[in-house]
Amino acid sequence: MKLCMIGTGYVGLVSGVCFSDVGNTVYCVDKDQKKIDLLNKGIVPIFEPGLEEILKKNYKQKRLIFTSDLKKAVINSDIIFICVGTPTKKKTNSADLKYVFSVAKDLKKIIKKYKIIITKSTVPVTTGDKIEKILSRLKKKKLVDVVSNPEFLREGEAIRDFIYPDRVIVGTDSNKANRTLKSLYFPIIKKSSRYFNTSRKGAELIKYASNAFLATKISFINEIANLCEKAGVDIKDISLGMGSDQRIGDRFLRAGPAYGGSCFPKDTRALIDTGNKFKTDLSIVKSVVNSNDKRKTLLIKRVEKILGSKLKNKIITFLGVTFKPNTDDMREASSIPMIKYLNKKYSKIRYYDPSGEKEDLKGLNNVNYCDTISSACLKADLVILHTEWNDFKLLNFKKLIKKQKFKIFDMRNMYSAFRMKKLKIDYYGIGR
Ligand SMILES: NC(=O)c1ccc[n+]([C@@H]2O[C@H](COP(=O)([O-])OP(=O)(O)OC[C@H]3O[C@@H](n4cnc5c(N)ncnc54)[C@H](O)[C@@H]3O)[C@@H](O)[C@H]2O)c1
Repeated sequence: MKLCMIGTGYVGLVSGVCFSDVGNTVYCVDKDQKKIDLLNKGIVPIFEPGLEEILKKNYKQKRLIFTSDLKKAVINSDIIFICVGTPTKKKTNSADLKYVFSVAKDLKKIIKKYKIIITKSTVPVTTGDKIEKILSRLKKKKLVDVVSNPEFLREGEAIRDFIYPDRVIVGTDSNKANRTLKSLYFPIIKKSSRYFNTSRKGAELIKYASNAFLATKISFINEIANLCEKAGVDIKDISLGMGSDQRIGDRFLRAGPAYGGSCFPKDTRALIDTGNKFKTDLSIVKSVVNSNDKRKTLLIKRVEKILGSKLKNKIITFLGVTFKPNTDDMREASSIPMIKYLNKKYSKIRYYDPSGEKEDLKGLNNVNYCDTISSACLKADLVILHTEWNDFKLLNFKKLIKKQKFKIFDMRNMYSAFRMKKLKIDYYGIGR
C-alpha cells in the first residue's frame, strides 16, 4: 500500500519506518526541512534503539521517502496518517489541536481521489468529527473516510511495540476503511483478535483512558512509597506482592520520580479538560495530576534533606536526565524542575545522559554536561540516579567519586540498599 505519514516525529517516523519494513511505500512528510534533510542523509534525528538500521534498509529499497512536499506525498498515497503533535494549549489543560486542524485544511485543498485520513496523533473525543467537518465537501463526495487509529508505542521500545502491539484500535464505521486497515495491519498483528474496530469516538477515548490509567498506577505506587518510607517497609516488596496478582499486573508499579514524558502529563490534563467540557467530574484523574505535581516538590525536598539544606556549592551529579531510558526525549522530564531549583540554590550541577547533552539545560550557569560517567561523578557530594539506563546499573561509586564522603540518591531503586550498607555508602532510595 502507499502511505503518507504527516509529522515525522517519534510516532510518525517509527510508524512510517515499520510500515515500510513490511513492504509498504511510505512518504514521511515534515514541515521541518532540517529534519527531512537529516533523514535523507540517513541520520535519525531521535534516539530510538534499532530505528536507524530498519530505516536505512528501507530507504535503500526506495520504500521510504522523506519529503516536505505534502501535496506530492498525499496525491501518491492511499492512506494518510496525521502524526503531528498535540501539546497542552498555553495556560489551559486542553490539547492544542492547531497542528491537526492545519493539516486537515491542507488536505482539503489537495485531495481529489478517495483517501483514508487517520488521526494517529492523540486527540480528544470528537476531534474526528471536527476534522470531518473541515473536509465536509470531500466527505459528501465520498472522497474521504476519517478514522481514529491511536498509537500506543512507548519511546525506547517503540519498534517492538509497533511490530508486536498488544492491540490495534481502529475507530470507524466505514466498512471500506476498516477492511483496508485490517489488511494494512495484518502482517503486524497476525492474530486478528488483536485488531479492534470501534466507533471513532471510542477509539479517541480509549487512548486517553489508557494513558490516564497507567499514570494512575504510577502515582498510586509513588504514594504508597511515601507511606513505606514512614512505616519502614520496602516498596519493592509491595510492588512484587501486588504485581503478582494478575488482576493488578506488575507493570507501571515501580516507584520513582514524578511521571513525565511527551504523553502522560499532557494527556491526563487533556482528559480532565474533556471531562469538564462534557460536565463529567474525573476526580481520580484530577487527583493523579495533583499527586504527580506534588511529587516534583517532594523529591526536591528530599534532596535538600539528604544534603542537610546546605545546597550552596554542593556538587550534585545527575546520572540520566531523560524521563525514561532509551530515549532522548526531555518533554516534562522531572529532572528539569529539580535541576533548575538546585541551580537557583547555587549548587553545582553536572549531568551525564547516554543520549547526550540537552537543549533544555543549556544556558544555565553551573549546570554542565559531562560526556563520561566518571567525569560527571568525580568528587560529587551527591549522585542522583534519575533515569534507569542500563549504563548505570553496575557502577563502582567509590572508584568513580574518589572521595571519602559522598551520598547516593537512587530515585529508581536500581541498587540493593543492603549491599550499599555493606559497602558503607550513604545511600537513599525511594520508598525504603
Ligand atoms: N511520543 C510518543 O511516545 C507517543 C506515543 C503515542 C502517541 N503519541 C502522540 O502522537 C502525536 C505525535 O507525537 P510525537 O511525540 O511523535 O510528536 P513530535 O513532536 O515528535 O513530532 C511531531 C512532528 O510533526 C511535525 N509537524 C507539525 N505540523 C506539521 C505539518 N503541518 N506538516 C508536517 N509536519 C508537521 C513537527 O515538525 C514534528 O516533527 C501526539 O499527539 C502524541 O500525543 C506520542
